[in-house]
Amino acid sequence: MSNIESYEKAKNDFSWDIARDVLNWKDGELLNIGAMCSDRICDRGDADKTALIWEGFGDRKEKYTFNDLRIYSNGFAQFLKAQGIEPGDRVCIFMDKIPSLYFSFLGILKLGAIAQPLFSAFGDESLEVRLASANTKAILTTRKHVRKVRKIKDKLPELKNIIVVEGDPAKLKEGEVFFDVESAPKIEEFDVFKSDSESPSVLHYTSGTTGQPKGALHVHSSVWGQALTTSWVLDLKDDDIYWCTADPGWVTGTSYGIIGPWVLGTTQCVLDSGFTSSRWYQFIQDNKISVWYSAPTAIRALMKDGNELVGKFDLSTLRHLASVGEPLNAEAVIWSGEVFNGLQFHDTFWQTETGAMMITNFPGMEIRPGSMGMPFPGISASVLDLESHEPVTEPGKVGLIAFRPGWPSMFRSYWKQPDIYRSKFVGATEDAMPDELRMNPELWYVSGDRASIDKDGYYWFVGRDDDVINTGGHLVGPFEIESALVEHEAIAEAAAVGKPDEVNMEVVKAFVTLKPGYEPSDDLELDIMNFIRKRLSPLAMPQEIEYMDRLPKTRSGKIVRRYLKAIEWGEDVGDISSLSDE
Ligand code: WT7
Repeated sequence: MSNIESYEKAKNDFSWDIARDVLNWKDGELLNIGAMCSDRICDRGDADKTALIWEGFGDRKEKYTFNDLRIYSNGFAQFLKAQGIEPGDRVCIFMDKIPSLYFSFLGILKLGAIAQPLFSAFGDESLEVRLASANTKAILTTRKHVRKVRKIKDKLPELKNIIVVEGDPAKLKEGEVFFDVESAPKIEEFDVFKSDSESPSVLHYTSGTTGQPKGALHVHSSVWGQALTTSWVLDLKDDDIYWCTADPGWVTGTSYGIIGPWVLGTTQCVLDSGFTSSRWYQFIQDNKISVWYSAPTAIRALMKDGNELVGKFDLSTLRHLASVGEPLNAEAVIWSGEVFNGLQFHDTFWQTETGAMMITNFPGMEIRPGSMGMPFPGISASVLDLESHEPVTEPGKVGLIAFRPGWPSMFRSYWKQPDIYRSKFVGATEDAMPDELRMNPELWYVSGDRASIDKDGYYWFVGRDDDVINTGGHLVGPFEIESALVEHEAIAEAAAVGKPDEVNMEVVKAFVTLKPGYEPSDDLELDIMNFIRKRLSPLAMPQEIEYMDRLPKTRSGKIVRRYLKAIEWGEDVGDISSLSDE
C-alpha cells in the first residue's frame, strides 16, 4: 500500500501538521535538520541501521550507520566550532559526493551555521562569484578541488578558513587546515544549536536570466515539506533502499538526497563515479535498490544504450521510480514501463526556490506520459494568464505556473537581494518585506515556467518564461556565460542561448564577435570552450560557437538572445521591428 491513500482524500483532509505525525514529532522537540537526520533516528532505536551505502570510482565501497552519521556530523560541528565558526555563518561544501560531504552538511546544521553546497565541477570563477555573494567564512574541500580555492582566496577577504577533508595533509599550503573526520577522535556528544522554524539552514545558488546567480535561502522548517513529499511521492518505507542520483551541489541532492530520506530514517545509496549505463544498473542490482529518483537526461541516456543492456541485470528489487529537473518526455515514461517491470517514472516539478516538490505524480495515480501530474496536497497552484496575470480558467491554455506562498519549504529570500525576491510575486506592494510576501495568501509566487492544465487538472510543461538554459536538468545563466566569454582575449561581444539536444534537452551555444586582429578558426573555438569549462563548469561550456560579424541588438544596444534562440530552435523569430539595422 502507498503512503498516500488517495490523492483526493489527502487534498481534502490536508494540513502540514500531518508531516509531524509522519515523523512522530512531539511539540517541544528540537527542530534542527542536522540532529533530526542523525541523533533523532538513533534515539528512536535505529542507531545500527545502515544510513549510507557509498560507492566511488573503481571498487571503493563504504557503509555507515545512523550512529556513524551522528558521530561524524558531531565531529564536523565540533571542529568547525573550534575554528571559530558561529551560528549563521556561511560554510561552503565544495567536494565530490564523498561521505564527508554528507557528514559535514549535517554537522554545519547542527552548529546552526548555513550550509552552502557548491557543485564540485565549478571552476574558480563560478566559485568566486558565489563565495563573494554569500560572504562565505569557511570552505570545506578536498585535495582535488582546493587548487581552485587557492586561485581566488586573495580576492575573498572574508573567507577565513580553508579546510581540506581528504588527501595528504603534508601537501597543504599555508593557511589551510586538514581535518579527516573518520580518523579524528569520535565526538559522542555535541550541544546542537537550538534552531527554530525560521533559523536559516541551506543557501543554494541558482541562475537567472540577468545578473549573477542568486542565493535562495532556506530554513530548518523546510523539513516538513521535504519529509511529507518524500513520504507521499517517493513513497519511502522503513525497509526501502533508496537512490537519489542528484549531486548535493543542487537542491535535489540536499532536499531528497540528504534531508527527506534521512529524516525518515531510510537507507540511501550514493554513487560517486561518472555515468555509464552499465555502472548504474550494476549499482541498482548490487545494492538491491527499491526506490529511485533520477532525471530525464539520465533516463534518456539509459534509453539510448538500449533494452538489451537492461536485460543483463537483475533489477527486480525496484518498485518505484521518480524524476525531476527538466521535462520528462512521454517516450521516456513509456520506455521505463517497458524495461523496468512495468514501472514508469513519476515526473515531479519543483525548483531551488520551492525547496520541495510542488507538482507531482503520486504512486497509484494514473500517469499521463508527458504530464508533470497535479499539485501536491496543500499546495495551491495555478497558471496565470501571460498578460493579465489572472488564473487561466480555460483547459489547455498556456500561462505561468504560480503558487500561493506559505508552504513550509519555500525559500525565505534571495541572499542580500530582497528586491529580486519581491519581483517574483504578482500583486506585491513596492516596499513589502520578504516575510510579508511569504505569508500573504493573496499573492502569487511566479515560478518562471509556462504550462497548461488539462480538463482533469493535470499540468503540462511548455517551457521557461526566460532565457535560462536547462542542460541536463541543471540551470545555467546566459549572463554568467556571456560575462566569462567577453573576458576571453579574442571576444568582443557574446550571446549564450540554449540549443536543442537529444539527450540533455539543451546545451549551450555561444554566438560571438571577435576583436580586430582575431580570425575565426577551429583552434580558437576549442580554446574558448576550454576557457569557459575551466572558469565556469563543464555544464556552462558552449558545445558550439558561431562566429558573427555582428550580434542582433535592439536600438538601445541590448543583445537580443530571443532572436538567436528562435533561429536555433527553428521557431518563428517574432517581432524584430525593434532590432537595430545599423
Ligand atoms: C527549473 C528549476 C528542483 C529540482 C531540480 C531543478 C525545470 C524542474 C521540471 C519538470 C519540466 C522542470 C523548470 C524549473 N524543471 N522540474 N518536472 N518538468 N521542467 O531545480 O535548478 O531550481 O531548476 O527546472 O524550468 O523552473 P532548479
